[in-house]
Amino acid sequence: MSLIYKADPVRGAEWKALLAQKAPDLPFHIWPETGDPAAVRYLAVWEPPPDMMSRFPKAELVISVGAGVDQFDFSRLPPQVPLVRMLEPGIAQGMVEYCVLGVLSLHRHLVDYVANRNAGRWAQIRLVPADRRRVGVLGLGRLGEAVCRKLAGFGFPVSGWNRSPRTIEGVTCRAGADALPAFLAACDILVCLLPLTEETRGFLNAELFARLPRGAGLVNAGRGGHLIQPDLIAALDSGHLSAAVLDVTDPEPLPADHPLWLHPRVLITPHVASMTRPETAVDFVLETIDRHRKGLPLAGLVDRRRGY
Ligand code: GLV
Repeated sequence: MSLIYKADPVRGAEWKALLAQKAPDLPFHIWPETGDPAAVRYLAVWEPPPDMMSRFPKAELVISVGAGVDQFDFSRLPPQVPLVRMLEPGIAQGMVEYCVLGVLSLHRHLVDYVANRNAGRWAQIRLVPADRRRVGVLGLGRLGEAVCRKLAGFGFPVSGWNRSPRTIEGVTCRAGADALPAFLAACDILVCLLPLTEETRGFLNAELFARLPRGAGLVNAGRGGHLIQPDLIAALDSGHLSAAVLDVTDPEPLPADHPLWLHPRVLITPHVASMTRPETAVDFVLETIDRHRKGLPLAGLVDRRRGY
């Protein structure tokens, strides 16, 4: 009855040390080590191994080490093997920090000051009070909700959009396709935290940008696949959008000669908004395995029809 880990090996070594203390009876292997494949019951993976089910025919439970599950091909996972997304609190904390960083960078004109620094130009830009900067968050799951709450604390008028209705105190929440235009029309800074699904691929496109107020900024901390990159570049070049902060791109890594790197109105970070924290991730995995063994409902269980 073993657990396989397949993700960043440095953090894997931390998982190993933590599991040795917390669950000494659970055999644990870091990919490509697997021990006896027939003994593998549980997998904690970022990208699933090819032919996971033929390699580990007795696998019973798969846990994504990340919050997203778009890297899984659901058709290769038999329906009786639950797929769970990582819900450890460290991910939300990292995402809150990053989205605050992105929103404040746009709010406080950091893109302009980086350009001015490079040109040796001292030029003050007038401040916009937070209560006049409307921030909108696409996707009100755990991460989106935590981000909305923190942003509201700065005094920004915060609204959120989600596929299905949500309520968050102090945040104007809208739901469904019909409500999207009104939501976008009131976003001076738009933050994307949607899951990547067939419905949301290419969501950040020319049509959506056209619905934002002139001069709006974008933070994408979802997935690179949400964004139609040429549409963003066109919107920035025309001045309709003022700047973008991107943590995710397509492809990753972004090739060195990609136009996004060179665009003066774009800040890029290499998919680091949030990182699963071994301490809390191991607790979540052990709790999930325990609940699975007892036949209890699993937190973070992926609905494969919905895609997250
Ligand atoms: C990282 O992108 C994650 O899905 O946790």
